[in-house]
Order: sequence, then C-alpha cells, then structure tokens
Amino acid sequence: MQVRIAAEAATSVVTGTLVLPLFTDKRLDGAAAEIDAALGGALTDVLESGEIAGKPNEIAVVHAKDRPYHRVALIGLGERKAFTPAALAKLAGTAVRTLGKRNVAKLAIVLPDEAAADPLLAASAVAEGATAATLDTTTYRTEPDRPVVTDEVVILAGALDGAALGAGCTRGTVLGEAVNYARLMALTPGNDMTPTIMAERARVLGAEAGLQVEVLDEAAMQAKGMGALLGVSRGSDEPATLTVMTYRGNPSSPDLLALVGKGLTFDSGGISIKPALDMHEMKYDMCGGAGVIGAMYAIGKLKPKLNVIGIIPSSENLPGPRAVKPGDILRAMNGKTIEVINTDAEGRLLLADALCYARELGATRLVDAATLTGACVIALGHAASGVMSNDDAFVNGFLEVVADVGERYWRLPLFDDYDKQIKSDIADIKNTGGRYAGAETAGAFLRNFVADVPWIHLDIAGTAYLDKESSYLAKGPTGTPVRAFLALVEHFAKNGH
Ligand code: BES
Ligand code: MN
Ligand code: ZN
Repeated sequence: MQVRIAAEAATSVVTGTLVLPLFTDKRLDGAAAEIDAALGGALTDVLESGEIAGKPNEIAVVHAKDRPYHRVALIGLGERKAFTPAALAKLAGTAVRTLGKRNVAKLAIVLPDEAAADPLLAASAVAEGATAATLDTTTYRTEPDRPVVTDEVVILAGALDGAALGAGCTRGTVLGEAVNYARLMALTPGNDMTPTIMAERARVLGAEAGLQVEVLDEAAMQAKGMGALLGVSRGSDEPATLTVMTYRGNPSSPDLLALVGKGLTFDSGGISIKPALDMHEMKYDMCGGAGVIGAMYAIGKLKPKLNVIGIIPSSENLPGPRAVKPGDILRAMNGKTIEVINTDAEGRLLLADALCYARELGATRLVDAATLTGACVIALGHAASGVMSNDDAFVNGFLEVVADVGERYWRLPLFDDYDKQIKSDIADIKNTGGRYAGAETAGAFLRNFVADVPWIHLDIAGTAYLDKESSYLAKGPTGTPVRAFLALVEHFAKNGH
C-alpha cells in the first residue's frame, strides 16, 4: 500500500474512486460542493434519498461516468463536533476494505476542514487505516477470499500543510505495517507460531528496523533464576524463549522505557485445563508480545529520541507429563515464591520474570501488555483495555496521550485489598485471588515484580482480537496495543521523561 500526498483539485484528480467524508450534518462544502456541482447535484440527490446519514463507516457510491475520478464515495465520519484524527483511520479503512474488494485499485481521499487542527495526525490516521485494511486474513485457504486490491491512496492536500501531511503519511504507513505484523503473528496458529518462531519473527523485524535483538533460551533463563516462566514452559516440548529488542534513540540519557508483552503462543490452561469451547482462540494469547514486536519495529523505523527495550517472554501452556501442577511452588527471578493454585493463571508467571529482567536491564519505566484475564473482559467487554498502575502521574499521562489513538483504555484500581486476596498460606504469594476482581488481583500480583519502578499494566484480553469484522478491519486480531505504545514513546521523545 502506497499512501502519498497530492496537490491536485478533487474535480480533476485521476483515480479509481474519489472519497469524500460526510459528517452527520450532511453539509457538502469545499471539494464536496464542487464535485456535487460538477455532477449536476448527484451528491445532493444521494443525501436527499436518505441512503446515508453520515454515521461512522456508512458508505454510498456514485458512478461518475467520463470523469477523471470515475466514482465518488461518500463515507460517514460521525458528528462534526466529535471529530478526532482517529476517525479518519476508520474512514480510510472502510474505503479500502469496501472499494478494494470491488476492484478499485486507486483511491483519492479529501480530508475534512477539521483535519487542519493536526494535519500530521490526520494523514497518519489515513495511512494507518488504509494499510491495516489491506491485511489478508485468509492466506491459509487454498482459495483466499476476494482480496483487497487497493494499492494506492492519495490524500488531496487542499490548503493543508504539505510537510506535516507528508510526515503523517510516513508515520501512518509504518504504524499500519507494524499493526499488520502484530496481527499476522497473532493470526498464525500455534503449530506455526511457536515461542521459537515468535523469537525469529522478532529477529527478522528487528533487523529490518535496525534494532539489536537477543534471544534467551531456557538455559540462559535458568541461569537468571526465571523459575516462574520456566515453570509454565515445563508442560510443553516446545522450549520457551525470552526476546529482548533494543532501540537506543537517546544514548546519552539514562532513561529506558521497557515494553513487556505476554507471548503465550498457545494457552490450553495446563493441568487446570480450559473447556474446549473457544479454546482455539488461545492462539491469540501472544497478542501482547506481538504488540511489543510490532511497536518496536515502528520505533526502529521512525527513530524517536528515546531509549526503548521490548521484552517478549514466550511459551506454550500445555498439560504435558512434566507440567507444573496446582500446589507447586515456583521461585521468580527476584526470589519471591509463588504457589500455583491454577495453572491457567500462567501469563502473570511469565510477566513476573520478564518484569524483573526489564529492571535488571536498567528500565526506568515499565509498561506491560497481556491478554491476562477473562475477568477484564467481564468488566469492560470489548470496549476498552484495562489499565492498572503503581504511579498516578505516569498513568494519567498515559491515558491522556492515548486518548485519541483509536484504541480505548480504562483505568482499574489496585487497592491493597487485592494483595490480601493473593496471600498464600505457605509461599509469598499465590497466582490466583479467587472469584472477585480477577483483573485487579492479576495486576496486584504483577506489582510484586516491579519494585518501585513506575509501571503500567494493560490487560488487553477483551481488545486484542474481535470475533466480528467491521467495515474497516477484518475479524480477528486488532493490533492493540501497537498504536498506544507508539504514541507513548513519541510523547516521551518529545517531552522528556
Ligand atoms: N489467557 C487467559 C485470559 C484470557 C481469557 C484471555 C479469555 C482472553 C480471553 C489467561 O491465561 C487465563 O486463563 N486467565 C484465567 C485466570 C484465572 C485462572 C485466575 C482466567 O481469566 O480465567
Ligand atoms: Mn491461562
Ligand atoms: Zn493465558
């Protein structure tokens, strides 16, 4: 997918379809008014027919015979006063997914006047949404679905700042690619996406983005005392891996942000085995790790002035003959002992060691992302990721920075009540906290491994993948939290720690 800026007028652009945004006020102004006039009022006609109301993701297509732009698509953009650049990612995704399946190879998009408030982010959103819309999720079929054939999206600059638009195109294209890399890893089933293969993907993408990549094998993890991670891995013949991707964008600074992602390439639950219904979805239990790999790729490509490491602990969770058993006690890298009550609460065991290791590598801030608890899905549904933290200033800043990235985040508390729920009778802590506040007891568990380093935990169990397609994104993995990670890194690069 190529996304570029052009100076042409909408009325004379040569393309497969000209895309015009339509707010719910159904006002045709600027380029839209000119096109309407050129077509003898054809757009006014569409609006009067009631075919489209301007709601997000609606689309109405008019053929424009003998015009250089061939067709005009009106695409809904919601309420004008609620406009944010992220809405343009959905608009562009809807355009590419809908028209791309109807054999339209080239699109030209007119931005709304509202894009003038932040042309860089507006162009970035278009490029990101257009790129994400091209991902083919049916490559395992002998005859794949009708492909999205769109390979070029042109943003008509109008009066907007061309340099900012160009920078936005670059950012959005890289971000869209990073999102697609993460989604593709997640889509790939467990037999083709083992911990070893996941580490290899990190190596390849890291090399492409100029990052240093190191992979710890089980012997190296043993030497580091990572007994919690290795306890999970024991039930599987596939060896665990722990991948570290390093980007040093500000070598003279001591600050180091660590992004840590849960990488369970398959979570059967282990001895505390899950029910068969929907167990296949647990191939997605590596979405946090895939998100870290995708984000690190984007960071390497875009080169923000900040030091960032990505850490991806990866394992299978299977009930093999040597598997960890309920009642077993594991020792994490920081020496804390963990009574395993339920082997299905395995993600926190991997993260425990990975968070300790991030601190050993010098992390001054920690953010982890994990498909960690079903309880988080019960609490927030698919509407938002759960956010927990030990640092109000850090988490408030994060929530502000990610408010308009196209992923939603919502804070949950970490009261010390939850620490009581995970007290063990015989070890330091246990890995489950009972029926209530399951997302928060998992967060409280992780807090045992971050010491006093400012830390944010993202529970993406409800947002990392969706079982419904939308007009702008295929069903399956969403790429969450790649967009938030990039925005956070850019924020720190610009404003300092
Ligand atoms: N990977 C799951 C969490 C999950 C569930 C993600 C549903 C996405 C959708 C995690 O490893 C898990 O099994 N958590 C348990 C924890 C419980 C045993 C304390 C859960 O949520 O049931
Ligand atoms: Mn589990
Ligand atoms: Zn899991």
